[in-house]
Amino acid sequence: MATRLAKLAGHHVTGLDTGYFKDCGPAVKAETLPDVQIVRDVRDVTPHDLEDVDAVLHFAGLSNDPMGELNPILTQEINLGGTVRVAQAAKAAGVSRFVFASSCSLYGAAGGEAALNETAPLQPVSAYAVSKAEAEIALTEMADADFSPVFMRNATAYGVGPRPRFDLVVNNLIGWAYTAGRIMVMSDGTPWRPLVHIEDIAHAALCAAAAPRDSVHGQAFNIGAADANYQVRDIAGMVAQAFPHAELEITGQTGGDPRSYRVNFDKALTGLPGFTPQWTLERGVAESAAWVRAKGLADAAFDSRLFIRLKQLKHAMDAGLLDGELRAPAAA
Ligand SMILES: NC(=O)c1ccc[n+]([C@@H]2O[C@H](COP(=O)([O-])OP(=O)(O)OC[C@H]3O[C@@H](n4cnc5c(N)ncnc54)[C@H](O)[C@@H]3O)[C@@H](O)[C@H]2O)c1
Repeated sequence: MATRLAKLAGHHVTGLDTGYFKDCGPAVKAETLPDVQIVRDVRDVTPHDLEDVDAVLHFAGLSNDPMGELNPILTQEINLGGTVRVAQAAKAAGVSRFVFASSCSLYGAAGGEAALNETAPLQPVSAYAVSKAEAEIALTEMADADFSPVFMRNATAYGVGPRPRFDLVVNNLIGWAYTAGRIMVMSDGTPWRPLVHIEDIAHAALCAAAAPRDSVHGQAFNIGAADANYQVRDIAGMVAQAFPHAELEITGQTGGDPRSYRVNFDKALTGLPGFTPQWTLERGVAESAAWVRAKGLADAAFDSRLFIRLKQLKHAMDAGLLDGELRAPAAA
């Protein structure tokens, strides 16, 4: 998504990724592919990879809690160690702007009583969130006159990207509503979640890359629309409106959820020049609902490795395509 917007803005884009999910989802359109693609693990990046680069948008990593629990040490190695490695390579290559895809999940167990701004204490409750919090701290220590890290504390994403994910709350509920005619919320529905459309994340990243140094140097920004905090039961209710024949059930089986937080998005709305979120959740639900209907998605597909990141990694390991370190085994 960021690639498409960056190319539209006239930038030359180099992608760097292991390609764990390259075969997932439908075929990717050419407009969303980088001009140059480097297939590389962030744990192996060198300054040579980043020569002649003006800004790094660092999004690569294990991207949710379940993947973090798969192997917490690996999550640290990739999300913290890999981030530091890319940042060191960027510094050595003379790249001055480093936009890091952090996460609102680092506010963790905040409760949800008050909307948190960027000065709130970090209380991560998962290996994934810890890795994001520690990466921010490490990058802050690297900031200097020639190197400006910027932390995008993204809300949970929704929307249909080039390689859609159905392991995120909005799309997941939509997938079940469409394929099984059932919208199941296992918690009591009260936890708060800040949400953001993936296109708004991409737009914010480009604004953070282009912003004057003084506005963003070493700064964290919560990324989302002004009023983008929802309780899970409200998200489910909105999905139910898009699928009127689906049955909505809030089971309460898992009770509350320690991951409950509301976030204040004002700083990015005023401090990231040019950033104006374009999406509402209602529009995003309609977009994803139209997408699953157009694809005629079967439950076997929607709940498979094609759209669930953890399942794809497990499949690649079971098939011997990746080892326990998530590296391709060396050719014999
Ligand atoms: N999606 C969200 O709700 C959300 C919210 C907050 C933050 N973020 C962050 O934004 C970033 C992108 O999220 P996404 O939803 O696009 O996730 P994604 O899983 O779709 O994409 C992550 C990419 O990172 C690559 N990758 C993973 N490990 C790598 C490694 N060791 N070396 C090189 N590449 C590697 C994968 O191949 C994949 O292409 C992640 O860092 C994620 O933590 C996402």
